[in-house]
Amino acid sequence: MIIEPRTRGFICLTAHPVGCAAHVKQQIEYVKQQGKINGPKKVLVIGASTGFGLASRISAAFGFDASTIGVFFEKEPAPGKTASPGWYNTAAFETEAHAAGLYAKSINGDAFSDEIKQKTIDLIKKDLGQVDLIIYSLASPRRTDPKTGITYQSTLKPIGQVFENKTVDFHTGEVKQVSIEPASEEDVANTIKVMGGEDWELWIDEMKDAGVIAENALTVAYSYIGPKVTEAVYRNGTIGRAKDHLEATVTRINEKLKDLNGLSYVSVNKGLVTQASSAIPVIPLYISLLYKTMKEKGLHEGCIEQIYRLYKDRLYTAGEVPVDEKGRIRIDDWELRDDVQAVVSELWEKTTTENLSELGDLAGYRTDFFNLFGFEIAGVDYAADANEMVDIPGLQ
Ligand code: NAI
Ligand code: NA
Repeated sequence: MIIEPRTRGFICLTAHPVGCAAHVKQQIEYVKQQGKINGPKKVLVIGASTGFGLASRISAAFGFDASTIGVFFEKEPAPGKTASPGWYNTAAFETEAHAAGLYAKSINGDAFSDEIKQKTIDLIKKDLGQVDLIIYSLASPRRTDPKTGITYQSTLKPIGQVFENKTVDFHTGEVKQVSIEPASEEDVANTIKVMGGEDWELWIDEMKDAGVIAENALTVAYSYIGPKVTEAVYRNGTIGRAKDHLEATVTRINEKLKDLNGLSYVSVNKGLVTQASSAIPVIPLYISLLYKTMKEKGLHEGCIEQIYRLYKDRLYTAGEVPVDEKGRIRIDDWELRDDVQAVVSELWEKTTTENLSELGDLAGYRTDFFNLFGFEIAGVDYAADANEMVDIPGLQ
């Protein structure tokens, strides 16, 4: 069928299989051009189908020649109805990985559940024995606690005060004021439940008990800090509390991995257009100003550039892993450079609906957004019939 984007707010209801495949191939090509890294050979990625998790899987497979297992939660296709993009991304990734002689299998289901953890552990035992890198890259608006069955919703709210600032509707380019009421204590607790470190630690507990974590293994989860303008709603808001919890979980996991000589890290990544970040108020406007500034300075990176650099210059150098004073890996270093932030905050003050397309990279934001769903990819013929019924070759 002919597949076109159908957007509703910050989501797109359709995805293009050929476009998603082309997008994945671009990322694979990037890694191949950068060259090999001497890294781990058996890698589990939780949240492997889009964004930073997909980039983590691609960089491991094509950068380390690693066998990869990917876990994600994606909608499969039905006749006349497209799958979600992570489905098509994974189908394309596995096809390319298999063609390159690499092991790649996937599990589609709720990573927060005991069942999917067990299924993953069984697959590792059967095929790989153990893994030596575990990437934790989930982004979800809700989580059901497997022990109690209670479902928690995360929120994106400031704490203790109303948040008022600019935001943009990136479809229309309209810059307007947004006002967000402060979170309740329950909102804070719920957001920590969903996006904090509890589930990461559960994965490590259960994998360790099952003996599927190798000696000297690393596990890495992703965090964000960002600029002053988003601080009240992001880092000092409900999601920031969850990230604080995630970062604090490092100490707990390190204790548990001690006897295996394993280590855990949080990597603070750059703000980028993903399905998760387009849902956050204010972030799209910030990102379009950031893109403009970083592209002008030749510092722009997408998910694949970020994660390749994480592996090459942080995790798998010959020496120690470089971290900040709080023990975190920083690949948001270029985003938070003083000269970058000085320009962005100057632009922030000046930005209006009328001048945004000139001051900011709204076009780049939009293109990245549509690319997430396989649209607006150069070289793809969108007028041609596309088969929506694509299989993931290594799906378990
Ligand atoms: P994303 O939305 O692109 O990816 C989320 C992944 O989680 C997908 O693979 C999805 O299938 C999977 N997932 C969601 N719910 C699941 C469930 N219940 N069971 C199994 N899989 C599930 O998000 P993105 O942006 O790549 O986020 C990943 C991490 O990176 C998050 O912790 C996020 O906070 C962090 N991060 C994101 C930044 C950004 O600007 N996008 C910046 C810095 C950190
Ligand atoms: Na991800």
